[in-house]
Amino acid sequence: MPKVAVLPGDGIGPEVIGAALAVLREVAPDLSLEECRIGGCAYDAEGDPFPPSTQAALVEADAALLGTVGGAPDSPWNRLPRPQRPESGLLRLREHLGVFANLRPVQVMPGLEHLSPLRPEIAAGVDLLIVRELLGGAYFDPRRERGEEAAFNTIGYTRAEIERVGEHAFRAAQERRGAVTSVDKANVLEVSELWRDTVTAQARAFPGVTLNHEYVDSVATLLVTQPERYDVLLTENLFGDILSDLAAVLPGSLGLMPSASLGAGTGLYEPIHGSAPDIAGQGVANPCGTILSAAMLLRYSLGRSAEADRVEAAVRTALREQPTRDLGGTASTQELTAAVLRAL
Ligand code: NAD
Ligand code: IPM
Ligand code: MN
Repeated sequence: MPKVAVLPGDGIGPEVIGAALAVLREVAPDLSLEECRIGGCAYDAEGDPFPPSTQAALVEADAALLGTVGGAPDSPWNRLPRPQRPESGLLRLREHLGVFANLRPVQVMPGLEHLSPLRPEIAAGVDLLIVRELLGGAYFDPRRERGEEAAFNTIGYTRAEIERVGEHAFRAAQERRGAVTSVDKANVLEVSELWRDTVTAQARAFPGVTLNHEYVDSVATLLVTQPERYDVLLTENLFGDILSDLAAVLPGSLGLMPSASLGAGTGLYEPIHGSAPDIAGQGVANPCGTILSAAMLLRYSLGRSAEADRVEAAVRTALREQPTRDLGGTASTQELTAAVLRAL
């Protein structure tokens, strides 16, 4: 019986996870689903945003499904020492699982073009994949300091760190339209020069894949004006964080965007959005990013592609009938989830 560790987290996390669990129970009733704490709620209950009890549950898990972590801007959690903050719990979880490759697919599903705020001719047919490096760069570089009058962070990468995430991008491109765009700032940053050289050398092992390099500032425009240019976008941690929230404009909401984080072992699946304190507890959060993350879990960690396809098709149907507020509709989280279950 495959085991999935379920980490609802904070804010809308429990609401969107509730929806994804209902879907998983429907399409994969044999799964063992064990809930554990992460983020601010874990700090409040156990004094640690990534507590030993959660680490113990992960030992047995074949995959982990996460909601969201973090509080509102005025939350007391934001005044804790950095290692105790909710976001540090998430970063430690990613590090603990060794998930260095974060796949963030961006699709405008047929029949859902009207949900995009962009002109239909831009949004229609969008199908790209952002491969974000997840365990390096400024997020994890130990060279960091906060003083009273000055502070710094450092973006460092080794060739090995670039190659291991690059491998995921090239392999994904082989299964898709065969084009990798590596995104950097090589006109300014030495670390981007190494990134570019490494990816260029690596491309020789993938003769069926074409490789382009583009600067991150330019990609920010082209992503939302000419998204059809892109198949697989490969980039470092911080650029990937920002570009993927921007890419959410294409399908129409941050609430639609799923992700899979892969590495050596247990995969981690989570929507890309945050805890949305402005709508938490109201029952109006869009659960689709989390439901689609559960579909990625079925596909990548459990090898259940047929079930993943079913879930994705059901989400497409449900979004036509019952869009949530973020998409200009009126459906609640529950109503949209019920529509997904009906479509299944
Ligand atoms: P956010 O993603 O939580 O919210 C940004 C906007 O998008 C808000 O208006 C919110 O209501 C809306 N939104 C997000 N998800 C939605 C959904 N599923 N349905 C409908 N609307 C949705 O970003 P933020 O406000 O910058 O951050 C809030 C907190 O979340 C912070 O503490 C931040 O650190 C944390 N955060 C956590 C994660 C994560 O857990 N992976 C990701 C990003 C931010
Ligand atoms: C994301 C989030 C996280 C990140 C934060 C909450 C640490 O924004 O998953 O995109 O920056 O990776
Ligand atoms: Mn983010």
